[in-house]
Amino acid sequence: EMLFFIILILTVTIFNILFKETRWNWNKINLDSISFPKSFIWGTATASHQVEGNCNNNWSEFEKGFKNNGEPNIKDSQFSGLACDHWERYKSDIELIKSLGVKHYRFSLEWSKIEPELGVYNEEALKHYSDVIDELLKNKIEPVITLHHFSHPIWFDKLGAFEKEKNILHLVSFSKKVFSHFSDRVKYWCTINEPGVVAIQGYFTGMFPPGESNGQKAGEVYKNLLESHVQIYTALKKLPNGSSVKIGIVKNINQFDPWSRYNIFDWLFTFAMNHIFNWAPINFFKTGKLKFRVPGLIWNTHINKDAIKSLDFFGLNYYSHNHIRFNPFSKDYSDLMYKKNDIMTDMPYTIYAEGIYRAIKLVSKLNLPIIITENGVADKNDSIRSDYIKKYLFAVSKSIEDGYNVIGYYYWSLMDNFEWAFGYDMRFGLFEVDFKTQERTLKKGANAYIDIIKSQTDE
Ligand code: BGC
Repeated sequence: EMLFFIILILTVTIFNILFKETRWNWNKINLDSISFPKSFIWGTATASHQVEGNCNNNWSEFEKGFKNNGEPNIKDSQFSGLACDHWERYKSDIELIKSLGVKHYRFSLEWSKIEPELGVYNEEALKHYSDVIDELLKNKIEPVITLHHFSHPIWFDKLGAFEKEKNILHLVSFSKKVFSHFSDRVKYWCTINEPGVVAIQGYFTGMFPPGESNGQKAGEVYKNLLESHVQIYTALKKLPNGSSVKIGIVKNINQFDPWSRYNIFDWLFTFAMNHIFNWAPINFFKTGKLKFRVPGLIWNTHINKDAIKSLDFFGLNYYSHNHIRFNPFSKDYSDLMYKKNDIMTDMPYTIYAEGIYRAIKLVSKLNLPIIITENGVADKNDSIRSDYIKKYLFAVSKSIEDGYNVIGYYYWSLMDNFEWAFGYDMRFGLFEVDFKTQERTLKKGANAYIDIIKSQTDE
């Protein structure tokens, strides 16, 4: 027994030494001392279901439903509905984008509008996105398209969506179709947005459609989403313009640290979470082997060597840092904990700008150009946004100074929008949206972003 304890204490101590939780002394940091190359790409982002309005897809269906415990799927039974009416207002919204001084706009195509029935394409919807692209280019803003950002057609769901590997071909066909329409004008393409979130929130925590709770299925869906990326990449590269455009995946890195650094279970669960969310998928792109290994939760292996060369850039989304406390009695086997002195955002996570640096370091293993495809803060009172932007961009600047290949940053989001299971309560926008009048107003905190862009791009 004595020996067991000694080994335990030694292990925990070694973990503590090897995996120190990075903390910078912000009091000593000068947030103005940042420097970005002139070629650095400044941008902002949205997603179709969150801003366009009038969507009829897996999410709009989910919004009508309830969880097993009787609670509505979306906070206070909110519906995405008209959202920001971006579909109709895209011209004036592009004016707003322009006023920020950014050069890239990342948005997603609403698959359910373009292909409302399997194999039936809606010319009007294709024309709409074509007009959006032209309007952006006219304003000297580079369009960046996401092919799948959480939402998809109801017919795709009925076929079993990403639960079945054979359904991937439908997303590949859709991707080829839109690529053949837009690749003459669109140089940057993102395939799948946050495969880990789609799989785990949809099939494990149940926060996203279809609201299930089945670890093994989550693993299967996760695998099929990563595999979708590889198949889309391979298919698009063979089409005209394929070799000249840049195609990447968008993967979020969730930073996990143990709640108690002296509790072996907290450590082990933290490793499991990092493994599922971050390490296993990155390893897939490095080696062509996807291995999920958490006994009793997720266990599968998938090999596709094409994964190794399936990225022209890595789209990194970074938002959250969580401390994990193992709890065998909780539904997800763990509790998310928060350190007293950390500043909370309106979302269930804190500000931790060191985390974006750590995330950049982690994905740099792939030796690819990195675009921060999303980073931003839900801050209803707009009281921490300015500080958030300065801190996170300080961390990005530092990463570039230290040699990491970060080539761009898109702030999430252009404007307040439908924040999935949280509905309209979470306010991520640079522009505030009054959802009654659709009026947009620049937030004070957004000036931090505008000023940084100005200072880094002006001669
Ligand atoms: C998603 C966005 C979302 C944002 C803020 C990311 O997970 O890609 O659609 O709004 O995080 O939660």
